[in-house]
Amino acid sequence: MPEKNRIELGSLWDIVLVLADGEFHSGEELGLLLNISRTAVWKHLQKLEYFGVNLSSVKGKGYCIPGGLDLLCSKKITSLLKSKQQLELNIFPQIDSTNSFLMEQLDPARQVCCAEFQSAGRGRRGRLWVSPMAQNLYFSIGWGFEGGVAAIEGLSLVVGVAISRALNKCGLKDVKLKWPNDVLYQNKKLAGVLIEMTGDPSGYCQVVIGVGLNVSMQELHATGIDQPWAALNSMLAEDGLPHMSRNQVTAMLLDELLNILQAYESEGLSFYLDEWMNIAAYKGQQVELRNGQALINGTFAGVTESGALRLLCDGREQIFHGGEVSLRSLA
Ligand code: BTN
Repeated sequence: MPEKNRIELGSLWDIVLVLADGEFHSGEELGLLLNISRTAVWKHLQKLEYFGVNLSSVKGKGYCIPGGLDLLCSKKITSLLKSKQQLELNIFPQIDSTNSFLMEQLDPARQVCCAEFQSAGRGRRGRLWVSPMAQNLYFSIGWGFEGGVAAIEGLSLVVGVAISRALNKCGLKDVKLKWPNDVLYQNKKLAGVLIEMTGDPSGYCQVVIGVGLNVSMQELHATGIDQPWAALNSMLAEDGLPHMSRNQVTAMLLDELLNILQAYESEGLSFYLDEWMNIAAYKGQQVELRNGQALINGTFAGVTESGALRLLCDGREQIFHGGEVSLRSLA
């Protein structure tokens, strides 16, 4: 579906690649690159605001992106990957949604789609996922499973465990998982996961796992986020830990996801349940569950063997499955 007000990056990407070094470049130099006038360069650069890129222009010096851009590079990611599993990795400067892209593929299994910018990044429950250029990670990975929907019920939880393991390796301790798979740090959302399925619901199905992780999100570009959020590099800096590049974090996340996805096929969720419960947010706390239009209050009592939510409501245990359900603390 065509997106309202979408701006195409097109040849502006060539200019972004030059400005990514954070140095000043004259209008003349940038114009020569695209064979356009200095006025046309200026007009072109106005579009950067839509992509969430800050631009500075100084008379006599030209244009610069303060601090430069930490761009993704498939060669770097591949060289940092420890896993030897077969994978097809594609990086797009601009895409509507990495999940939508993989969902449209005939065989998304073992494909990874990363983007610098998403014009229509999707969150759970039909929400928009704010995706400014080159600040955070937006990627999806496809995987094939035998055993249909039943086999993938616990997948959300296992994916959360993989992300928390990767974040621990980046140096971030005390990452919490909010059922089913939101990643929280100090009660603020650091990452979200959107899992979608195609194929045979009772046989071989393909799953697209989309991960959005705030790495260096700037306040200025986060105005569309309607809940408290955190970004990895600010959290690392607060703890005096070194900054991580987006390529490093991508490789770490992919390594953990590849390991866990492979193991999940043979081990199932039971193998990861204790680890999930150890880092579960809101243990024993009063929570509110939104299930469609209904709001249900209860005490968070953990998860079942298959990964469904256990809530104690007026002394009686009730079980809720994933999908369109969302949880928030009342503490
Ligand atoms: C959520 O917490 O609501 C889930 C957010 C998932 C966002 C990621 S970004 C990469 C992938 N592509 C999308 O359109 N969504 C997911």
